[in-house]
Order: sequence, then structure tokens, then C-alpha cells
Amino acid sequence: MFKINNSIMVQLKTEAEINIMRESGKITSDVLKLIANNIKPGITTKELDEIADQFITASGGIPAFKGYGHDKNNLYPSTLCVSINDEVVHGIPSKRKLKEGDIVSIDVGVKYKNYFSDSASTFSVGKIDSEKQRLMNVTKESLEIGIQQAVAGNYVGDISNAVQQYVEKAGFSVVRDLVGHGVGKDLHEDPQIPNFGKVGEGLKLVEGMTLAIEPMVNAGKYKVVVGDDGWTIRTKDGSPSAHFEHTIVVRNGNAEILT
Ligand code: MF3
Ligand code: CO
Repeated sequence: MFKINNSIMVQLKTEAEINIMRESGKITSDVLKLIANNIKPGITTKELDEIADQFITASGGIPAFKGYGHDKNNLYPSTLCVSINDEVVHGIPSKRKLKEGDIVSIDVGVKYKNYFSDSASTFSVGKIDSEKQRLMNVTKESLEIGIQQAVAGNYVGDISNAVQQYVEKAGFSVVRDLVGHGVGKDLHEDPQIPNFGKVGEGLKLVEGMTLAIEPMVNAGKYKVVVGDDGWTIRTKDGSPSAHFEHTIVVRNGNAEILT
């Protein structure tokens, strides 16, 4: 989800490739289910990471985020990104314990038979306040509404605009500095999928495009800052943030969700 400005090279997938991506996506979605069953007050984010790492390896996959990065001296060290409350994305697992009232965004990527899948969900830890619950609901719904626009013949901007409109009507804001992306033979392929934009703008969607759509939604303002670890992204205003992501295939008709 890093923003790069170069010319666009979209890799359309064959049905044979999509079949492999569906297998990859199943591992990714099973990781999120497994993590959901283990989230509770007192567990450390590192313990969650170990559970995910073991499951992926036992499934014949490779954690996609471990060793990823543009700075050779600070590659991403873990299987999961675990981002708590005002952390938006890319939180590094540690000895930090989850506590009642937290919301925690879990992002996971798997490489399986050389094809990547990428998915994220935000979970509640015990009982959370109603505004955090509304933030989670709106973010999840904004992903569903974005996916509804991912139909051949529509434009990338139709996805972006649908997500933004839905989020802003709810009084929340979409992060601008990080975007969704193509996914498949690489974790990050073209095109970028921003969570803000105009109807009809950008690339026209074609059957066989595989995309990771991933709204990151802040309860407050959209601005974010990077932490001292060079990875953890937080809201600038300290407000809580949520993140939902699916890997999908564009079809002539409703998109197919692979995760
Ligand atoms: N889902 C995120 C993305 O699309 C996760 C990347 S974590 C990283 O970029 F460590 F791989 F950068
Ligand atoms: Co992604």
C-alpha cells in the first residue's frame, strides 16, 4: 500500500492463476479466523504473530510481509501487522498486551505457489465503546460498498469515490497517504486503489484484474504520522482507526472475493 508514481502495468490473471490465488486467499482468511478466536485481553501481539506464522507455514504458505520493505536496513520483521486503537496500519508485533476496550487491526499476507493474497480486519477486545464499534462497522461496510463497484466496465475512481462518500457521510475520514493495490505475482502491483476520488476517474476495470481494496478509516481527521520504528502509522490527532481489506477478482458482474 505504498504510493508510487510510475506508469501503470496491470497484470491480468488467467483462470488458472485465479485458482491458485483462491487457495492462497483461503489460507489468508483462515489466519484471520484463527486470530479472531485468540484475541482476548492479556494476549501479546507477538503471541498472535506466532500463531499466524505457524499456521501459514503448516499450510504450505510463506508470510508475505516478513522481509518486505524499501529500506534494506529496516525490512518488515513480522508475519502480521497488528495496529491498536490510534495505530492505523503496519504496527509491529511486540510484548504489548491487548486490553479490554482496544480495537485491533490485523493485516496478513500469504504467498502460496508464488501467488499473493492480502486481507485485514479490525477486531474488538472485550467490550468497546459505541463510537469505536460504529467506526468498525462503517469501515467494514465501506469495503463492501467499494467491492460492489469493482465490476468490469467501471473505473478505479468508482471504487474510491464509493468508499469515501460512505465514510464521510458517517462523519469519519479516509486515510490519503496509503492506498489499496493490485495483487498477484507480487504483493503490490498496479493499479493503486485510493480510498478517495471521483467517479469515472482512473483506470477502467477489466475481468481478471486482482485487487486488494483496503479502506483505512480514522474517527477524526485523515492525517497520519509514521512512528520511530519506521513502520507504525498512527493518526495525527490520536483518534482511533480501523482497517478492512479483501483480495478480489474483477468479473463481468459481481466481484469474486478471494479472502
Ligand atoms: N496490507 C498491507 C499492504 O498492502 C500490508 C503491508 S505490510 C508490509 O501494504 F510490511 F508488507 F509492508
Ligand atoms: Co494490502
